[in-house]
Amino acid sequence: MNYLQDLNWRYAVKRMNGNKVPTSKMNNILEAIRLAPTSLGLQPFDVLVIEDQELREKMSPAIYNQPQVIEGAALLVFAAWKNVSEEKVEQYMQNIANTRNSDVASLDGFKNMILDSLKVKTPSEIFQWNARQAYIALGYATAAAAFEKVDSTPMEGFSVDAVNQILSLEEKGLSAVSILAIGYRDEEKDFLANAPKVRRPAESFFTLYENTAEVA
Ligand SMILES: Cc1cc2nc3c(=O)[nH]c(=O)nc-3n(C[C@H](O)[C@H](O)[C@H](O)COP(=O)(O)O)c2cc1C
Repeated sequence: MNYLQDLNWRYAVKRMNGNKVPTSKMNNILEAIRLAPTSLGLQPFDVLVIEDQELREKMSPAIYNQPQVIEGAALLVFAAWKNVSEEKVEQYMQNIANTRNSDVASLDGFKNMILDSLKVKTPSEIFQWNARQAYIALGYATAAAAFEKVDSTPMEGFSVDAVNQILSLEEKGLSAVSILAIGYRDEEKDFLANAPKVRRPAESFFTLYENTAEVA
């Protein structure tokens, strides 16, 4: 049950103390992101790792001057692919074939199923779908950080256009969807450091469907 203690320990930190995060811990958080599940296994987003202080200072206004941006040790920018090209799908098939030592042609059915499912979606639907996959990884990252006893703040409070522009994301076929600040809490400055966690009670959050009487 240690993971529940860790998940209770974590909170969306508002003030950080500037301490660096050891590379091994940072790498474990990144590996957890890489291991996050995604629809069809496509992983249709990139994660930009920004430790450079100068760049974080430049980005700060675009993230509405939230203090964690500068007081933390790093920013992870989750940037969803604007579309899923046939080339990306083919690269994925090649990755499966290489990893599992199989013939890429044997994956044609799977490839065509993916391409057909993309054809019936609008560009906006594809981007939103990609963004949802990035959010799963954002969740993994917050949990992994907690397991490493590293603090983090998931953030949507930023100007997408400004962040995209600073990081030249549009040119790369990407758009920022969420940002995770990584670092260590400053207990003295952070008014939320010792605040009890606010969550809906389990009784109204979860509904147990025990028998068919619950079903229409
Ligand atoms: C997608 C997402 C976006 C968020 N954006 C911000 C943000 O921009 N700034 C911030 O301080 N907290 C942000 N939060 C933190 C939430 O307010 C916080 O997770 C929530 O109130 C629950 O509290 P806890 O995480 O501290 O337990 C965000 C959380 C999520 C999941």
